[in-house]
Parts: sequence; structure tokens; C-alpha cells
Amino acid sequence: MPDPLTTPAAELPVRRLGPDDLERCLALNEDRAWGREDRKWLFLLENAEAYGIDDPSGGLAGTVTLTRYGTTAAGIGMMLVATRYGGRGLGRRLMTHVLDAAGDATVFLWATEFGRPLYEKLGFETLCVAEARVGRLRVEGDPVRSRPADPAADLDALLALDGEVFGADRSGLLRRLFGFAEQVRVVEDDSGLIGYAGMWRNHSTLVIGPVVADNEDVARALIIDLARTADGPVRVEVDRTRPGLLDWLGERGLPQAFWTSFMVHGGRPLPGDRSRLFAPLMTAMG
Ligand SMILES: CC(C)(COP(=O)(O)OP(=O)(O)OC[C@H]1O[C@@H](n2cnc3c(N)ncnc32)[C@H](O)[C@@H]1OP(=O)(O)O)[C@@H](O)C(=O)NCCC(=O)NCCS
Repeated sequence: MPDPLTTPAAELPVRRLGPDDLERCLALNEDRAWGREDRKWLFLLENAEAYGIDDPSGGLAGTVTLTRYGTTAAGIGMMLVATRYGGRGLGRRLMTHVLDAAGDATVFLWATEFGRPLYEKLGFETLCVAEARVGRLRVEGDPVRSRPADPAADLDALLALDGEVFGADRSGLLRRLFGFAEQVRVVEDDSGLIGYAGMWRNHSTLVIGPVVADNEDVARALIIDLARTADGPVRVEVDRTRPGLLDWLGERGLPQAFWTSFMVHGGRPLPGDRSRLFAPLMTAMG
């Protein structure tokens, strides 16, 4: 097996990872102090394309994931290079591999400040900055305005709404969301479904996402109703073009924990109607 310390990065083999690689992926997370995100990694290994470079001493030297949305769009995530192999071109090698694999699709990702310089060098442009808000949301006294989604009866309407908003096919992923999420909830009015949102467990936090809604009022109702059932801190990523929603989250007890930049390769226009996409499903899926 080639040694990343002595082999030029461009010659290192990139391997497709599968669910059997879960423990190796988690070890890399721990190396970068990202926490033991076992449910998230398993969901990615089962529903996205995960790639890695092997570490000859066992484990993985680096990982990256590509989530395809039909043939038109794709999200990149879990760009991790083991500390001992940092600065040797492995990040570039893995990114180039998934960009080639993505072909003509519009490719996007959420970047930490560690990753942003690498992505900029590869042609990604920042579209917006999102704040990860983490804490216990105060929900006392708020009326319940949503109901649990019925995976059979609501699926068609949910997929139709998501298709308009996300603008690329993530129907396979949303079908699996019902098994992965703690809850999926919907809001309706006389016209039909006007919003839906999910909440899934990641380590010790419950992530609220996706949040898709016709307007901010509906998005708030979904966030409240999901958070009201949470048995621990919740996390939601909201971009800074929504200062009203961010202020409201702050007043309700959710301060900023960190922030990430949403970047698009080549600065291409995004499909769909992002004004109704209030939070991503999972930043690692774009
Ligand atoms: C970000 C990360 C993946 C980079 O991996 P890496 O293997 O060290 O990166 P590379 O050696 O391939 O660097 C690629 C290019 O980006 C540049 N680069 C990488 N990190 C940089 C930084 N912090 N500042 C400036 N430039 C940087 C390198 O100079 C290099 O440029 P070149 O190819 O023109 O010489 C790695 O540092 C990491 O795993 N960090 C922690 C996890 C993380 O935050 N991941 C990003 C999630 S969005």
C-alpha cells in the first residue's frame, strides 16, 4: 500500500468506502476532534458515495463524500485528512477525485474555515455564510401548528414541495429520512402542504433539518414543534441572510456555536427556490 508520506498525492489510490469502513471513518473524525458522529457517517456511507485514501498503518488517511441529487446537482462533505498527513496534497487529491466524479452537476458544500482555502483554490465561490445555532430552544406556551408526517400519505406532496425548493432530485434520500429522523413534521393550509421539517440525532445533539417552508412563520412553527420533543440540545444551521430568524433563535436560547460558508463550484446558479429552504438536511450532504 503506498505511503502518503513518501508517495506524491496525485498517485495515491482513492478507494470507494462502504459501511464496513465506519470505524475507520470515526477514527479520522476523532483525530480531527469532530466527535463520534456514528449515525451521520453510517447514513453517508449508505446513501452517498464515500471515498478514502488508506493509511498503511491501518485506518484512513483521508475521506470525502459525494451525495448525488439526480444528475444535475451534488453535495460534497466529510473532507477530512488525518493530522499526520496534513499539507501533503491529500485534500486536493480527494477533492479533485469527487469533482471529476460529479461530472457536469452543480456542486456545492458547506466549508469550515479550515477547508475554505482549499475549496477556493479548486474554484468554489462563497454564496452565503450560515450560523450553527446550538442549545435548548424555549418553546413554552407556543401552540402546536404542525403534525407528524405520514410516510405514506404525505410523501407525494412532500416530494413535490421539496422538488420546487431544492430544485434537484433528492426523493431517494427523503424516503430514507423517515427511518433516519427522530421525527418528520408537516404544516398544511387550505392549499395543501406548505412546509415540512425533520430532526435527526447526531451524537449528543438533535439536528433540525431539512426545514422547507413557504415562509419564515411556517419555518418557525416547524422548528418549535420539533424542538419541543427534543431530549437534549438542538442544532439548526441558518444563513445570515435571515437576520430575523437568527435573532429569534438567539432570544429563544440558541446562540451561535460556529459558522460555515456555503460554496458553489464555479459560482454556478443553484436550481430551485432557495428562499424557501431554511435549513439543510445535513451540511455534509451540501
Ligand atoms: C482542510 C483539510 C481537509 C486540508 O487537507 P490537506 O490535505 O492538508 O490539504 P492539501 O495539502 O491538499 O492542500 C490543498 C491546497 O489548499 C491549500 N490549503 C490547505 N489548507 C490551507 C489553509 N488552512 N490555509 C491556506 N491554504 C490552505 C494548500 O496550500 C494547498 O494548495 P496547493 O495545492 O496549491 O499547494 C485538512 O486540513 C483537514 O482535514 N482539516 C480538518 C477538517 C476540516 O475542517 N475539513 C474541512 C471541512 S469543510
